[in-house]
Amino acid sequence: MKITFCCTDTKAEPWLQGLCTALPGADISVWQPGAPQADYAVVWAPPQQFMDEQAGLKALFNIGAGVDGLLKLRLPPQALVVRLDDAGMAVQMAEYVCHAVIRHFREFDGYEADMAAGRWGYRKPRLRSDFPIGVMGLGVLGERVARALVQFEFPINGWSRSPKAIEGVRAFTGAEQFNAFLGASRVLVNLLPLTSDTTNLINKDTLARLQPGAYVINVARGAHLVDEDLLAAIASGHVAGATLDVFRTEPLPAGHAFWSHPRITITPHTSARTLREESIAQIVGKIGALSRCEPIAGIVDAGRGY
Ligand code: NAP
Ligand code: GLV
Repeated sequence: MKITFCCTDTKAEPWLQGLCTALPGADISVWQPGAPQADYAVVWAPPQQFMDEQAGLKALFNIGAGVDGLLKLRLPPQALVVRLDDAGMAVQMAEYVCHAVIRHFREFDGYEADMAAGRWGYRKPRLRSDFPIGVMGLGVLGERVARALVQFEFPINGWSRSPKAIEGVRAFTGAEQFNAFLGASRVLVNLLPLTSDTTNLINKDTLARLQPGAYVINVARGAHLVDEDLLAAIASGHVAGATLDVFRTEPLPAGHAFWSHPRITITPHTSARTLREESIAQIVGKIGALSRCEPIAGIVDAGRGY
């Protein structure tokens, strides 16, 4: 079995070592232009030339959950596209979002400013019933996040394409229930995949439908959010602030308004990192299942976009 590795911005050596240890009989190497045809590929942001040359691949294993970048390429038509399925990301995402929600709800940013100013001052306790949270996307990550938030006894709404039943989560389904979902939510958490249906979905209209004093947490993709609309909604007072982990251009360009906005907290696309050991174990398990003709989870539906 031949496996090719083509991951931009990723140190190849430890991945190759891990894959070789887990699959001792396999021929595994880093892709170079002109390399021989492989059976399987482990990829992140590969160039189009890779796809054109590796036209006989049986499967492409993306070392991330989001496949929006991969689906922009012309892919070998018979190759399965397989996304990472949690592999240690869901708990990280739950930590990140719970932290952002609680930091905002409990006004820890205000206490940090007080401390820096040498000020000892209490803030009035707020009611969690006044902070209903809407989680957009109830897939592998969104469901884990919603379940974690339920533990803190916030009212939780969830929005997805197909109906869901998650204990403690009020489920909204499809485009027809989107406005009702927004109107029932004050804190908006985005865990949608980036598709033609979801690009620019967080815009002036959707933000205006959130409850007053809204808060936005974007941990999915930068192109879900219309940056200027968020800035305008904050300036108007309707949105209180935002925590953003993902941006239209990454790294976020110097001088972008998000860098210095007092109501916006940014992090460098780090809310749920790919964990190498867990990812290798998952990919190796799936290669084994495919070679035994068994079904695997995480196959992407290119037509749907995720
Ligand atoms: P997933 O398992 O594919 O789940 C996607 C969810 O979105 C599903 O519940 C799906 O509904 C829903 N959805 C898709 N299109 C929709 C639409 N048009 N209307 C309503 N709901 C829609 O994805 P995931 O693993 O949870 O990951 C979500 C995203 O997080 C990834 O695509 C990636 O962009 C991002 N991500 C970010 C980081 C980071 O570090 N910032 C890390 C990992 C992932 P159905 O359930 O009905 O299909
Ligand atoms: C990271 O953003 C991922 O999609 O895994």
